[in-house]
Formats: sequence, structure tokens, C-alpha cells
Amino acid sequence: MRAHALIFLGAPGAGKGTQAREVAKCYGIPQISTGDMLRDAVQRQTALGLAAKARMESGKLVPDDVVDGIVEERINRPDCKSGFILDGFPRTISQAQFVDRILAAKGEGRPLVLDIEVTEELLLKRLTGRRTCSVCGEIYNVHFNPPKVEGTCDKDGGKLFQRADDNEATIRQRLEAYHRQTSPLIEYYRGQGVLLALDGDRDPEAIAKGLLDYLSKA
Ligand code: AP5
Ligand code: ZN
Repeated sequence: MRAHALIFLGAPGAGKGTQAREVAKCYGIPQISTGDMLRDAVQRQTALGLAAKARMESGKLVPDDVVDGIVEERINRPDCKSGFILDGFPRTISQAQFVDRILAAKGEGRPLVLDIEVTEELLLKRLTGRRTCSVCGEIYNVHFNPPKVEGTCDKDGGKLFQRADDNEATIRQRLEAYHRQTSPLIEYYRGQGVLLALDGDRDPEAIAKGLLDYLSKA
């Protein structure tokens, strides 16, 4: 199977960003994270950021047309010509249909969808423990993958920060949005025969190894 577009699906905290970074590095293709793009817009206080901020802080999804627009613009850039990874998009059936239309218009085949499955109890601990490097974006976890020096990135000494939506109340809302709006995508893609389910309860290196082995053969 050859897939131009790889889609990472999974609940908040499942490890989409962690695994997408590895695959992007290995294949030299861009990781397109709608969450990262939206957070960047919020920080720069652009019109998009101002429109998205309140919904992100409350753990609700940003409207489909807003996210579809930024993804379409990003996918059309030249660095996506030999493939790209969608991390955190699509998240609704409407967004999935939008991706189908874009890929069809480009004459591309169907995407390959990697669904990271994690036991619900682990998600809260992963999300409240997450810390991210403000310089390179490396993802740490105070419980599962702590940096050598607290609050500091091992790679470049950058300061680690905690995301505004990684508090318990917002996490509960994000999980609710996932179950109601995003989890139906599992059946959507299973029906297309393009879904690969990954056991996300293992350590990140084991997941990455299995995934990269699979992709090298696919
Ligand atoms: P987004 O940024 O996409 O957040 P999310 O889906 O909630 O996912 P996360 O980034 O929290 O988790 P992840 O699966 O990437 O886990 P990670 O690898 O970091 O979206 C944020 C918000 O933006 C949304 O709520 C919404 O408002 C808006 N938005 C974004 N996209 C949208 C869209 N398409 N439509 C509408 N709105 C949209 O790992 C988590 C932690 O666990 C880390 O600390 C990591 O070190 C650790 N970890 C990872 N893997 C393992 C492992 N195997 N074992 C132990 N620890 C692990
Ligand atoms: Zn760093």
C-alpha cells in the first residue's frame, strides 16, 4: 500500500504528536498538527487565533470551516509534494470528507490512518504530566519521560511549558469531544479499509519501532 497522506487518529494524550514527530523525522515529510497551528495563531493573536482561543481553552473543537481552511492552505505548500502527516486532523466526519475531497482533487489515493488506542485511565496522567519545549517542540512527561533537568529540554536547554488546556476540567471536555465527534472516524476509516490500529499502551519507542517497521514494508 502506498499512501501519500498519513493520518494520526486517537484520543487526547494518545501519543499522536509523539509518534508523528518520529515518522516525520524518519521520512523527511512535514508533520501538520492543527493543534500546533492553532496554538501558534493564539499566541500571535491573529484573527484565527482570536476566533479559536475560547473554544480551545474550554476543550471544544474549533469549527470545521476554520480548520479545513488552514489545513488546505498548508497541504498545498511545496514541501507536501512527497507526502505529509496529519496530526489531530480530521476530527469530525465533515473534516474527513473534506480530506477525501482534497486528496481526490489532487489525484491522490486514500490516506493511511493510524489509530493509537490507549486505556482511558492513562490519558489524564499523560496529559497533566506533559511538558513541551518552547524552542524545538520536543514532548516530555514528568511521569513517563522526564527531562534530565526539571523544566529544561535535554536537546537545546529550552524552557519547558505546560499547555493551557492540560488542566483536568479542560481535559474532561476534550475527552468528551473526542468520544462524541472524533471516535466515529474509526468506523469511517475501517469501512474504507485504510485503518491500522496501534496499541498505544506500550512505551513510545516500542510503538515507533512497530510503526516504522510497518511503514517500511507498506
Ligand atoms: P491538539 O493539540 O490536537 O490536542 P489533542 O488532540 O487533545 O491531542 P494532544 O496533543 O493533547 O495529544 P497527543 O495525542 O498528540 O499526545 P502527545 O504525543 O503530546 O488540539 C488541541 C485543541 O485544538 C483541541 O481541543 C481543539 O480545540 C483544537 N483543534 C485541534 N485540531 C482541531 C481540529 N482538527 N478540529 C477542530 N479543533 C481542533 O502525548 C501526550 C503525553 O503523553 C506527553 O507528555 C508524552 O510524552 C506522553 N506519551 C506519549 N506517548 C506515550 C507512551 N507511549 N507512553 C507514555 N507516555 C507517552
Ligand atoms: Zn528543545
